[in-house]
Amino acid sequence: MTKLLIKNGTVIDPAGKNGGGRDILIENGKISKIGRVQASGARVIDAKGLLVMPGLIDMHTHLRDPGQPEKETIASGSRAAALGGYTTICCMANTTPPLDDPALIAYVVGKAEKEAVVNVLPIAAVTRGLKGEEIAEMGRCVAAGAVAFSDDGQTIGRSDVMRRAIEYAKQFNKPIIAHCEDTNLSKGGAMNESRLSTEIGLPGIPALAEELIVARDLLLAKKYGRVHIAHVSSAGAVKLVRQAKKDGAPVTCETAPHYFSLTEEAVREYDANAKVNPPLRTEKDRKEIIRGLKDGTIDAIATDHAPHTIEEKKVEFSLAANGLIGLETALALALTKLLPEGLTLKEIVKLMSAAPADILGLTGKGRLAIGADADLIVVDQKAAWIVDPDKFASISRNTPFAGARLKGKVLHTIVSGRLVVKDGKLVN
Ligand code: DOR
Repeated sequence: MTKLLIKNGTVIDPAGKNGGGRDILIENGKISKIGRVQASGARVIDAKGLLVMPGLIDMHTHLRDPGQPEKETIASGSRAAALGGYTTICCMANTTPPLDDPALIAYVVGKAEKEAVVNVLPIAAVTRGLKGEEIAEMGRCVAAGAVAFSDDGQTIGRSDVMRRAIEYAKQFNKPIIAHCEDTNLSKGGAMNESRLSTEIGLPGIPALAEELIVARDLLLAKKYGRVHIAHVSSAGAVKLVRQAKKDGAPVTCETAPHYFSLTEEAVREYDANAKVNPPLRTEKDRKEIIRGLKDGTIDAIATDHAPHTIEEKKVEFSLAANGLIGLETALALALTKLLPEGLTLKEIVKLMSAAPADILGLTGKGRLAIGADADLIVVDQKAAWIVDPDKFASISRNTPFAGARLKGKVLHTIVSGRLVVKDGKLVN
């Protein structure tokens, strides 16, 4: 097995010591030494002037396999992830068919072993067919490799089903990841309900559609067990989670880069690439999301990478599919948007690596410790670049950030000691 030595980098490890000029030696897929290291026969990466951090972990990725390889495959999604600095991605269950069965979980695990360049960990459906009625075979899905449960894309409307799922998931110590949307309130909506929606004539989705179900699921969590709230987008939802944490509820939550980078103004010109569920909201909401990231109310940043074809986006706004792709822009957006807001590098890295690893119980991931998996990235914090979707490894192009100037570029991505991105390019 080859040795890899990353020399002279500035190590940003939220779980350990930080500091300039430290070397990291990788042997047999694990971190074997940190400090001043001399290693004969090692391949050397000079990281002088660069940041070395744990590989990012995305706990909310949509790969479209099985069912829609024209949008994304496990191979293409994993390559997009590697370019974006992700060494582990967790793929959601709303595929066609949905991942509600151990054989389908095994299919993803097997395919990932063959095709993926990063770790791909499946999230199993909570209910059969994502229908919100009958609980799926959760135990057998865990045995097949599922790391969490979610009907993401669909709300579990029945509180009794959600309660049973929370109780049942306890024995596996895996979170239920809740998609919170009162579909009676959101029905027919295409964007955030606001003055702007009236002005531009689009049907609105009130923030309350999210907040009602967030409130319900926080109450269920307090009584019955762990819940992780997906893609928090509204100020009200952040405040509800903050209060629930104060009350001691076993809850965690995530937001996505688009919710701290954009507002509903991004859809003013009917750009369907900014159509997402939950919808982009107001500046007040965006500010509260940032406050939540700073004060620890929001535990993690996840991409909600949701690839769609051009055909599904280039239609009348109200008919366009919800979702945007995020794997290749998430880190740069976090660095560009959150550092000026006062978040530290260490906090950002924690939100994108150690925190998701802890929420999902991924031991050996999200930290740069001796014996940990050698999943790490080398980043040029100062490098500015213009987002060009045509250069993405993702099969899809649905990003509202095309043409944006971002700061922070992933130069090298190492997965289990293997260099999969070198100098910003995929290795084969
Ligand atoms: O915008 C979204 N797209 N939100 C979701 O919850 C699902 C996702 C998708 O699968 O396309």
